[in-house]
Amino acid sequence: MTSHDDQKGFTIWFTGLSGAGKSTLAEMLYDELKKRDLKVEMLDGDVVRTNLSKGLGFSKEDRDTNILRIGFVADLLTRNGVATIVSAISPYREARNQCREMIGQFVEVYVHATVEECTRRDVKGLYQKALAGEITGFTGVDDPYEPPENPEILVDTLSEEPEESLRNLLEKLGEMGYIRETARLAGVRS
Ligand code: ADX
Repeated sequence: MTSHDDQKGFTIWFTGLSGAGKSTLAEMLYDELKKRDLKVEMLDGDVVRTNLSKGLGFSKEDRDTNILRIGFVADLLTRNGVATIVSAISPYREARNQCREMIGQFVEVYVHATVEECTRRDVKGLYQKALAGEITGFTGVDDPYEPPENPEILVDTLSEEPEESLRNLLEKLGEMGYIRETARLAGVRS
């Protein structure tokens, strides 16, 4: 699509452990869709928690509140033809499914990396703190993560390079009729 006029809104929802690579992929997709001159917005858990969800913690109740708030905003954007990219751990299946039902045009992406691999990467140093007991209720260490049962897309970050994952995302979005020109990837080498 080269104009905004006929753009169909959708939400692409990245779920997975902290450090699995959600934000990295979400940002790559954001840049790619922008290059195609689409209307795009990003709702990133870390950012949302500094404003819309400021003050919320990491109990199940607070996480569900956070996710439903993100879902609410994603729904408004999607209805208005925006390509909406969500990146949040969103560990609970039920809350994700509630968002799916509310939004309708929903593409769930499970960004998979084992706890061992995330601990090895430990970009923010939080796994080390969680394992040392300095943080409690950390997803994947002493708090649950419920993987999607039927995600539209599975990204295996252990075996795929980010560029390959991005190509798969774009292909799927093309198949689902949300974007055009899947063969020509504006900024991605094949
Ligand atoms: S969610 O569970 O409500 O979806 P969200 O994606 O918004 O989580 O925020 C996760 C980020 O908060 C993590 O990437 C990490 O930087 C930080 N964080 C701080 N404490 C925790 C915790 N107990 N569990 C998971 N992430 C935490």
